[in-house]
Amino acid sequence: MISSKELREKWLSFYESRGHVNIGAVSLIGDGTTGVLFNVAGMQPLMPYLLGKEHPAGKRLCNIQGCLRTVDIDSVGDSSHFTFFEMMGNWSLGDYFKREKTQMTVELLTNVFHLDKEKLSSTVFAGNDSAPRDEETATFLKELGILPEHIHYLPKEDNWWELEGTVNTPCGPDNEWFYPSDPEKKELVFPDDYVEIGNDVYMQYKKTESGYIPLSEKNVDTGFGFDRMLAFLNGQTDAYKTDLFAGAVRELEALSGRKYDEGGEIRRAMRIVCDHARTTVMLLGDRVGVLPSNTGAGYILRRIMRRAIRYLRSLSLSGDALLKLAEIFIEEVYGEAYPLLKEKKGYILDEIQKETARFEATLQQGMKEFEKCVESLARKNEFMKKSNPDYVPETVIGGKAAFRLYDTYGFPLELTEELCAERGLSVDKKGFEAAFEEHQEKSRSAEKGENKGGLASHSEMAIKYHTATHLLNAALKIVLSPDCNQRGSNINDERLRFDFNFDRPMTAEEIKAVEDLVNEKIKEDIPVVFQEMSLEEARAQHFVGVFDSKYGEVVKTYSIGDFSKEMCGGPHVDRTGVLGTFRIQKEQSSSAGVRRIKATLE
Ligand code: ALA
Repeated sequence: MISSKELREKWLSFYESRGHVNIGAVSLIGDGTTGVLFNVAGMQPLMPYLLGKEHPAGKRLCNIQGCLRTVDIDSVGDSSHFTFFEMMGNWSLGDYFKREKTQMTVELLTNVFHLDKEKLSSTVFAGNDSAPRDEETATFLKELGILPEHIHYLPKEDNWWELEGTVNTPCGPDNEWFYPSDPEKKELVFPDDYVEIGNDVYMQYKKTESGYIPLSEKNVDTGFGFDRMLAFLNGQTDAYKTDLFAGAVRELEALSGRKYDEGGEIRRAMRIVCDHARTTVMLLGDRVGVLPSNTGAGYILRRIMRRAIRYLRSLSLSGDALLKLAEIFIEEVYGEAYPLLKEKKGYILDEIQKETARFEATLQQGMKEFEKCVESLARKNEFMKKSNPDYVPETVIGGKAAFRLYDTYGFPLELTEELCAERGLSVDKKGFEAAFEEHQEKSRSAEKGENKGGLASHSEMAIKYHTATHLLNAALKIVLSPDCNQRGSNINDERLRFDFNFDRPMTAEEIKAVEDLVNEKIKEDIPVVFQEMSLEEARAQHFVGVFDSKYGEVVKTYSIGDFSKEMCGGPHVDRTGVLGTFRIQKEQSSSAGVRRIKATLE
C-alpha cells in the first residue's frame, strides 16, 4: 500500500535527487497564452520554456500540477475519469534527452515503485511524413532490459503529443508506459490487458501553421497521472477507492444510508458528487480563483456545482452535503499539499453555501417546469399518433423552453441536456442559442438606451469606456506581462473598472506607461473593426477572450489595428480618436493575485 502523501514525496524526491528543482504548481486557471480556460496538462505553464526561453529555476524541473479538463465530463462517474486531477511531471529543458530519460523512468518504475521490468510494456512513435520512427527510444529501451516483444510502434493518434487546437506550441513523439492490469495473468494481449501509467514526451518540434519545425533545444516533458497511478500502485482499478476519495465516499454513505459498493446508479452518483466537490474546492481555493458565474471559467464551475447538487438529490441529499465533502477534501486530503485551501477554507465554504442556496431556491420549480415540457411533448406525440399512425414522435425539447430553464431557474444548458438524455430526448441547441442571442440583444439595446430615449448620451459614454477597456487590456499585456488576463470588467457612465491577474501592485512608472500607451493609441485614431469568424479562425489569429464556444461556433471579434484583438459582443466606438484622455484613477488589490484598475476618460 502506498498513500497519496507517500506517492507525492517519492515522485518529487526521485527527481530532486537527480538535479531537478521542484517548481511547485501554478494556478488551475489558464494563463491565456494558449486560449484555453484551464490548465489541461502539467506542461502548459511551461510552454515558453519548452520553446527555448530560459527558465529561472534551471534546465531540470519537476512538480505535481493540478489540471482541469471538462471534455470528459460525461465520462465522470466511471472508475477513472475526473474533471480535476493532478499530473506528476518532470522536464529537461534542452538538457538530457532520450537516453537519460528512459533510464530514469525505468529506474523509477522498477526500483522505487517495484514494478517488474519483464512485465513493463512501452509504445513508441511509428513515424510518418512529418517525423521519423522513434528507433532511438526503442533502442535505449532494449538496452535497459525492456523485452523487445513488449515494445510497440504506434501511429500519431497514439504516440504523438500536442495541445490540440493550438499553434506555435511545442510537441513531439511520446513514449508511453504500460503495465498488466492483472500482473498474475499469463498470455497477456496488448493493449487490452494493460493500463497506461504515464508518458515521456520528446518535445523536439514546434507546431506552426505550415507544419512541424524541429526545435533547436530538445526537451523532455513527462506526465504521470497522480490519481490513476495511486490507484494502480495500490492494486486498484477504481481510483475512488484510494485515500483521495475514501473519506468523501464514507461521508456520502453515512449521510445517504446507501453503499458505494451497491454499484449501478448509486455508485455513479457518488463518484460524480465526489469528483465535482473536489473540483469545486480546487477552483474556489485556487490562487487566482474563480467564482460561479454565467461566463467563462465561472460558468464551468457553476455547471459543475449544480451538477453535483442534482446528483446529491438522486441520493436523497441536499446541497449541504457538498459543504461536508469540501471540508473533508480541505482538512484530510489536500490541505497539506495545498496550504492555500486551509487559508481560504472559510471563503470556500461560504461560496459553496451561497451557490447551493441560489440553485436550491429554484431547483424544485425548475424540475417541475422541465417535467411540464416533457409531458407536453408526450401529449403532443400521443395526439398526433392518433390521427396519423405513421407519425414519427418528436424527441426534441424546444430552445425557448431550455432558455427559460437557464434564465429563470438557473439550469445550465448541459444540465437540461443531461435530463433530456435520461429520457431519450434532446434539446434544440440552435433554438437555445437564438433565444439567448435575442435576450442579449434586448439587454444590449436597453443598455444603449434605445428603449429608454434621455439615457442615450450617457450610454455613449459606456460604449467609449468599453473600447477604452480593450485598449487597457492590451496595454497591460505589453507593459506588465503577456500573462495578464482579464478577470472581470464593469462599466458605467462615469468610469471603467477592470480586474486582471497580476501578483503585485503596479509601480507608479508602470501606471504611467499604461496610461501613455492607451493615450497614444487614442491619438492614432485607429478604426475599430468588427468581424465575425469561426472560433478556430479567431484562435489562429490570436484573438484574446474566452475560448469556450458555448453558444455557437461563430464568434464576434473586435480589432483595434494590431494593438488589440478581442472576442467580444460589442458595442464599440468606430475610431479610438473619440475617446478623449485616458486616466488611471486607482490601482488596488481586488482579491488574491488579482488587481483592479479604475480609470476615466476626460
Ligand atoms: N504533456 C504530457 C501529458 O499531458 C506529458 O501527458
